[in-house]
Amino acid sequence: MKFAFFDTKQYDIEPFEKYGQKKNVKFKFYETKLNEDTAKLAKGFDGVCVFVNDTVNAAVIDKLQNYGINAVALRCAGYNNVDVRYAFGKIHIFHVPAYSPYAVAEHAMALLLTSIRRIHKAYNRTKEFNFSLSGLTGFDLHGKTAGIIGTGKIGQIFIDICRGFGMNIIAYDKFSAENSGIEYVDLDTLFSESDIISFHCPLTEETHHMINSVTVDKLKKGVIIINTSRGALIDSSALLEGIKSRHIGAACLDVYEEESDIFFEDFSGHIIDDDTLARLISMPNIIVTSHQAFLTSEALENIAKTTVENIVAFSENGFCENELCYRCGCIEDCKKERKRCF
Ligand code: NAI
Repeated sequence: MKFAFFDTKQYDIEPFEKYGQKKNVKFKFYETKLNEDTAKLAKGFDGVCVFVNDTVNAAVIDKLQNYGINAVALRCAGYNNVDVRYAFGKIHIFHVPAYSPYAVAEHAMALLLTSIRRIHKAYNRTKEFNFSLSGLTGFDLHGKTAGIIGTGKIGQIFIDICRGFGMNIIAYDKFSAENSGIEYVDLDTLFSESDIISFHCPLTEETHHMINSVTVDKLKKGVIIINTSRGALIDSSALLEGIKSRHIGAACLDVYEEESDIFFEDFSGHIIDDDTLARLISMPNIIVTSHQAFLTSEALENIAKTTVENIVAFSENGFCENELCYRCGCIEDCKKERKRCF
């Protein structure tokens, strides 16, 4: 099997070559992202391997299908960048449902602690031999209320971490986790009672812009928002207004709704055209990391291993338990019957 690998970063190559060699799956590594212009690079391959900011829309799917490609191996969990509905009946889509939920949950807590204890400010000060504590007053997490939106794998680990800090937990999920001991509330209650809100749900039509100009007013004054999930869960302009009006206390963002052409690349020395992002970054109470939450060595190993296993399972059996199919939703039906989605 030969796969064209898009949006390659240096840290991808070693684990993918290692697991690929073991299973006779070859990768051609392209730095460019997959989109309508670059899809032609996939000609002659059996499939493409893509990440969060590659584009797998209808036009790309048509091109891939014309080249005889019938498999898209996502090396990530989220799939909002794939038109799964359009792909049905044309091309098989696999993903990596879990590679290290700890990596993301721990990063969310790292961002929160950095923000509230001003670690980023302190680091810069002491590097300059400035040992003043002025303006570095934080607050205790103990006794604060964390509102968790999405209590799947990552959300539940983040809840456990917060419990370790002695925080109270409330949560909102479209499908509550049974026997989890989690206190579920409606979204408005979560918005009004949470000192900290952390997003761990997928980006869908329903969750798009959950934080917007209307819901910002429902938030508790001084709330800290953490988003390690997908950027478009938050309307960035509404967030900016909430920060400027001092209603939102701080934001920790690992994702940004317009990140696809910016994140993962070095723009130092360039002028950024995105005024909203530039203004967000300029705020003293906003921390931005560049979709980094997944990036641990454990996660990279697991991503490569599962992606290669997905490819091999599909090529050998015509079945892959991590196939995404809009028709059977969570793929449970196909899993039970161990058959292809179409
Ligand atoms: P998961 O599938 O285990 O959990 C997602 C949860 O969201 C589920 O409990 C589901 O019921 C819930 N949900 C679905 N629709 C909802 C809605 N309309 N409202 C509220 N909750 C809803 O997924 P997991 O592994 O916990 O990942 C969560 C998200 O984290 C992914 O969708 C992905 O976008 C993001 N992610 C970010 C990474 C990063 O590097 N920043 C890395 C990996 C994932």
